[in-house]
Amino acid sequence: MSKKDEKSKNHAQVIGIDIGGTGIKGGIVNLKDGELVGERFRIPTPQPATPEAVAAVVAQIVEELSSRKGAPAKDTPVGVTFPGIIQHGVCWSAANVDKSWVGTDIDALFTKQLGRPVEVVNDADAAGIAEARYGAGKGVDGTVLVITLGTGIGSAFIFNGRLVPNAELGHLEIDGHDAESKASAVARERDGLSWEEYSVLLQRYFSHVEFLFSPELFIVGGGISKRADEYLPHMKLRTKIVPAELKNEAGIVGAALQIALQHKLTK
Ligand code: BGC
Repeated sequence: MSKKDEKSKNHAQVIGIDIGGTGIKGGIVNLKDGELVGERFRIPTPQPATPEAVAAVVAQIVEELSSRKGAPAKDTPVGVTFPGIIQHGVCWSAANVDKSWVGTDIDALFTKQLGRPVEVVNDADAAGIAEARYGAGKGVDGTVLVITLGTGIGSAFIFNGRLVPNAELGHLEIDGHDAESKASAVARERDGLSWEEYSVLLQRYFSHVEFLFSPELFIVGGGISKRADEYLPHMKLRTKIVPAELKNEAGIVGAALQIALQHKLTK
């Protein structure tokens, strides 16, 4: 390929895929502003959500997105999130997903299935880098902790805009329990807690994390960040705490951003 052809390939846009417990969502991300180009595309997560079944759905989503007019070149790497510890593309925990993921080289599996480079990143880490670059953490120096409240509790540790991966602060032990087992959004629904009751648990959780890390800013992500008015006003912390700005798209955007940073595709 000539230098000119190489240049004309559309690399400012990258496909990001967000693997969740109920849905697998993908979109084409414009890396300049972190916005999706066109609609996102979603397919329900197959059950059981084994690595092979999920890989097939990821391939279907990438195929749909790639067939769109102006889609990234077919050899452009694809970024994917996963709700577990990810080191060098291998999954090392499965708190809320099929246990067969542990030890799976997700990068290798998806790269083979898609026939193009794929790299996986922890879901909360993806949301965190997206918020740090395009959202509520933009321009904030020092430690920013992004805490996602969903099925579990995810966390992203950002320092001066850069990610310290796999922080797993949702699994801190608080009052004898794994924090996410009591204070996740799903635990609130399961236990039928009012927002006020729930904010007591969040206060306990965030005070502890604040004591450990003294961050400059907390960003609350996950589905219930859009209900932040219900619980943030009840909480007292010395650290500023704000809802995430990218909402549902943070995972897709962060997955695309992470792989773009790895491959130096961001201009
Ligand atoms: C997992 C994390 C994940 C979080 C949110 C936790 O149970 O251990 O890796 O980021 O849930 O999905």
